[in-house]
Amino acid sequence: MKPKIAALAPKGKRMIEWAERHMPVLMTIRKEMSKEKSLKGLRVGMTLHIEAKTAALVRTLVAGGAEVAISGCNPLSTKDEVVAALMKDGINVYAWRGQSERDYYANIHQVLDHRPDILIDDGADLISITHAKRPERIPKIRGACEETTTGVNRLRAMAAGGKLKFPVIAVNDSPAKRLFDNRFGTAESTLQAIMGITNTLIAGKNIVVVGYGFVGRGIASRAKGLGAIVTIVETNSIRALEATMDGFRVTRMSEAARIGDIFITTTGSIDVIRKEHMGRMKDGAILANSGHFNVEISLKALEELSVRRRKVLEDVEEFRLRDGRRLYLLAEGRLVNLAGKRSLGHPMEIMDMSFALQALSVTYLAKHGRGLEPKVHDVPAEIDRRVAELKLKSLGIGLEKPTPVQIKYARSWLVGT
Ligand SMILES: NC(=O)c1ccc[n+]([C@@H]2O[C@H](COP(=O)([O-])OP(=O)(O)OC[C@H]3O[C@@H](n4cnc5c(N)ncnc54)[C@H](O)[C@@H]3O)[C@@H](O)[C@H]2O)c1
Repeated sequence: MKPKIAALAPKGKRMIEWAERHMPVLMTIRKEMSKEKSLKGLRVGMTLHIEAKTAALVRTLVAGGAEVAISGCNPLSTKDEVVAALMKDGINVYAWRGQSERDYYANIHQVLDHRPDILIDDGADLISITHAKRPERIPKIRGACEETTTGVNRLRAMAAGGKLKFPVIAVNDSPAKRLFDNRFGTAESTLQAIMGITNTLIAGKNIVVVGYGFVGRGIASRAKGLGAIVTIVETNSIRALEATMDGFRVTRMSEAARIGDIFITTTGSIDVIRKEHMGRMKDGAILANSGHFNVEISLKALEELSVRRRKVLEDVEEFRLRDGRRLYLLAEGRLVNLAGKRSLGHPMEIMDMSFALQALSVTYLAKHGRGLEPKVHDVPAEIDRRVAELKLKSLGIGLEKPTPVQIKYARSWLVGT
């Protein structure tokens, strides 16, 4: 551990404890796992955003008996305080904020050096590197869990090409994750990050949200709630219609480019904001990305169009175009809600559910992984239900129970019975 980082451990510990106080579902599961030692003797290799909530997951897996090695899934999203605190507790952590691209991949290899039995990934870099560069690790691996849409998409492509060699649970796709984490979690944390980084007002601004999936919908609705005038860009006809009927203006990127004061990409695709769009933008337009990789806003195009670039604030870079206009890129075009120095990531109460799903899915793989086909699997329905029920309980919210008559009615098909 670097001495500078080591000194941050007490602060990191306080950050983790604060997160854990707000993650009651994960703490309930931790208690159970620590009693049952369901992961005893197993090694878990993880590549996730390393922040306080993730540390709560790591500590839960350790309580269950696992040995954990973890690297970051983004060069900018690591909180060094949290790294320091985890290292002090003897966890194998290979990450620091601002690591180079080369170190980023070297650190993933270090996780694989621990010979993991189960992987937890966010974006599928760990799983794809295992297959492409470290195939000797595959026979020992019982299975993996994937946290985000982009990762699941990559893994489905691997499975379709017959390349996936162990089962993966698509934690991202579970309703208890996607409906809350991708939508409400990303919405709050993205807008919080943009406001925190720039100190700009959202009310009255023209915000262009590119992509109206789970992430885009959440951001659009919250931005509207803050008084922004929101425009949506979509490639999918159903989602474009949904956005229209949700009351948003929907248009092509070429048109939206002229309108926006702030652009937020949420597609999981590449080059959705390109040179021709930047050429039409207003002086002072802000560009932010909340999709998994830093490829949605073309950095190459920004560089080619610019005569000068300079950092104007922490996490804000100014690109001066030939005609004098200035465009502002946040957090290097990496997911803004996690990559900004002061970005907080999703609210703790949201990650409580996402990481409870991860902990239970890892336990499921420990028990059943060897019997599962090497493909992308859904989170077992009972895990989804359990997490939702525990969350409701923690919120003190009661669930209506159907009466026997209602149950019979739901199962009948004869008219009038
Ligand atoms: N920032 C975060 O913390 C966070 C959290 C969850 C997910 N994600 C990431 O956000 C991205 C989106 O996730 P999601 O769950 O909303 O996925 P999704 O598949 O539900 O939505 C993506 C939407 O983008 C649209 N789209 C694709 N290409 C487009 C283009 N060129 N122009 C306009 N629209 C386009 C698709 O039609 C789709 O509706 C993924 O990369 C995911 O991994 C980030």
